Amino acid sequence: MKKLTAHKATAVAPANIAFIKYWGRADDVLTLPANDSISMNLSDCITTTTVSFEDQLEQDVFELYAQNGNRMDLRTDETERIFLQIDRIRDLAHLTTKTRITSKNSFPFGAGIASSASGFAALTLAATVAAGLNQSKQELSRLARLSGSGSACRSIPNGFVEWQAGTDSSSYARSLKSADWWNLYDVVAIVDDTKKTVSSQDGHGLALHVPYFQTRQQELPVRLKRVKEALQERDIHTLGEVVEEEMFSFMSVLQMSKPSLLYWSGKTIDVIQAIRRWRAEGLAVYATIDAGPNVHCLCERSAVDSVCNQLRTIGVSSFIVNHASEGAHIIMDHLF
Ligand code: PMV
Repeated sequence: MKKLTAHKATAVAPANIAFIKYWGRADDVLTLPANDSISMNLSDCITTTTVSFEDQLEQDVFELYAQNGNRMDLRTDETERIFLQIDRIRDLAHLTTKTRITSKNSFPFGAGIASSASGFAALTLAATVAAGLNQSKQELSRLARLSGSGSACRSIPNGFVEWQAGTDSSSYARSLKSADWWNLYDVVAIVDDTKKTVSSQDGHGLALHVPYFQTRQQELPVRLKRVKEALQERDIHTLGEVVEEEMFSFMSVLQMSKPSLLYWSGKTIDVIQAIRRWRAEGLAVYATIDAGPNVHCLCERSAVDSVCNQLRTIGVSSFIVNHASEGAHIIMDHLF
């Protein structure tokens, strides 16, 4: 076994919003999804993580900070998943040295805005570099997938990303289009920033027992194809139609799970209804939602100001404006 004195690296990784959702696993151990998924990396929902391997440490140490600088408490199972991911990287690098890890989110944590995706993508990149490994994007995406938060594998490549499910441990996500391909924006309407009570981890397991889940699998190839065509053509209307259809399909699986998962609040429905009205009035904006109450309003750059103004008129004063962004990358400013 090698030893390290203090090798430190810092990575930034974006959360991503799924146009076609990963929901339900074909293999729990390998984190293989039941279906392909497609997402966009979010420029303003990011996690920054510094990992340092330090000989004098007797155990791994992890600290997470919210966007306001407050220290966040994690559940034991959440911390365990972080240290398990570090173990995988230690094994790859033939190390036994313990790590000090500090993470900072620029957006609400655990509120269904994919903070586990950005978190595990940043952790994976920072830890591999700090351990002296030189992983390719493909290898990093695979490693991020194994963290258990499968969608983290989509936060590694650039821009608009597809995760092809695959059937074995080679499953990874690749860029379909770079971030600058399309001026597509995601204005996240924050209607509730409290931490959700049922995590995606539990939700994936319930999905497979929902009878509609099988029908959904049959519907997905057509939706995936239409999303790719819409990306190719930069066609907001086709993209929006499919993405909304997908949101309701995903929502149906959530609601029909036992126990039923209901992440939406009354305000979530108000925003969806309002988006329909604005669209009828000529504003090209569409909704999608992950496993949480907050509404991702998809539109082109020319519509962003109108979308923000309209959100204010219905009492939504907190939102995050994102354009498509690059994937996980190394920066030189460490958090400690
Ligand atoms: O990667 P997980 O286990 O956190 O699950 C992600 C689930 C969704 O965000 C709801 C969908 C997706 O594809 O990102």
